[in-house]
Amino acid sequence: MPEFPYSRLRRWPDVEADNLQAHDATDLLLVDRALGVGVPGPEIAVIGDDYGAITLALTAAGLDGIRVHQDLASGRRALRRNADELGLSGFHSHELDAELLSGARLVLLQLPKSLAELEEIADAVARGAAPDVVLVAGGRVKHMTLAQNEVLGRRFTQVQPQRAERKSRLIVASEPRPVPADPPFPVTAPHDGLTLVAHGGAFAGARLDIGTRVLLEVLGLGGSQLLENGVSRGENGSKRPENDGSSGVVNGDRPSRVLDLGCGTGALAVSYALAHPEAQVIATDRSAAAVASARATAAANGVAERVVVTHDDAASEIPDGSVDVVLLNPPFHLGTSVHTGAATRLFQAAARVLRSGGELFTVYNSSLGYRAELARLIGQTEQVKRTPKFTVTRSIRSAEPVDS
Ligand SMILES: C[S@@+](CC[C@H](N)C(=O)[O-])C[C@H]1O[C@@H](n2cnc3c(N)ncnc32)[C@H](O)[C@@H]1O
Repeated sequence: MPEFPYSRLRRWPDVEADNLQAHDATDLLLVDRALGVGVPGPEIAVIGDDYGAITLALTAAGLDGIRVHQDLASGRRALRRNADELGLSGFHSHELDAELLSGARLVLLQLPKSLAELEEIADAVARGAAPDVVLVAGGRVKHMTLAQNEVLGRRFTQVQPQRAERKSRLIVASEPRPVPADPPFPVTAPHDGLTLVAHGGAFAGARLDIGTRVLLEVLGLGGSQLLENGVSRGENGSKRPENDGSSGVVNGDRPSRVLDLGCGTGALAVSYALAHPEAQVIATDRSAAAVASARATAAANGVAERVVVTHDDAASEIPDGSVDVVLLNPPFHLGTSVHTGAATRLFQAAARVLRSGGELFTVYNSSLGYRAELARLIGQTEQVKRTPKFTVTRSIRSAEPVDS
């Protein structure tokens, strides 16, 4: 059989760089393992296949009917693009649900970043796959912890770490334990006027992130202010302009359109919708776990009808110049490596979707110093709050930003 052309795979639309590849040694170990055990394609499920390397290598090897779940919208697009490029088809994409797992006897998993995400996946496999399922989970040795074995051990009787190869390691989990009546996720937590609901893979779980809290305060949406139409003031006490959407109405006639870009559990979008019943609020995230969490958060706070939640990469489906206000708490980690390209992509997305004169509110770790980049990509940028850890800025979309 010819070698699978891994190097032809691309990460697009995800960040691409010379030191970032669309496959890793763990993918290769998982593929070798699957080819070695001889389970037919329709009984194989793949979870966490970043850019499609596992699914496509197995499909190319003649295993038809593989089911795959990818959390990220960008990963789903990369898989489709890579499949088209290589002329491969015959696999099926699913959410993390019964359709993905029913009857599966081999589940291949790229270990997720968080233990909570692993717990939700391990539970789903033990709950929904065939009774004799074998879960083969793999990762880079430097990112693996004993806690991952413990999490797997809560749902599987046998958990056997394998010898490391090429700096990656597989863990083989089998003999699922009986599962409790209710799955462990989503979890729910109340926060002074806001209930957050989180699936395992959502940023900060059901906690309110401190950066998010600082941004909510600046917007006049913190704590008991959630149910009032707060008008925020900058450090210099200046009132925000009339048409910034703080009343939920722009120019006295149409509802303001507000976008929570990278919404996670939806804390910003739902807080905004609670305080501004007139506003049209959209929440978007590239993570399916985040999208499911934000929808559940909107429902838990009674605003499901007023918050549209979309699974999309960098707001690609939102028309140019169509949004009045963007709220953004950007990521600064890309997978497990620190890489600011992920935040830059969202600044560029904000620049694209904002109308001229529209506002971007961003919170970030003060050490990151994004202000110059925001000014360059969006327009005039002022610091509206700084705590020892976080900075909140307000950028006004200029008609002609320097660089977009
Ligand atoms: C720091 S978290 C903030 C979550 C939420 N807004 C909050 O304040 O709690 C950043 C979020 O951005 C999302 N994200 C990262 N890159 C993205 C992209 N290219 N498109 C859409 N969402 C993205 C992540 O999945 C994550 O949920």
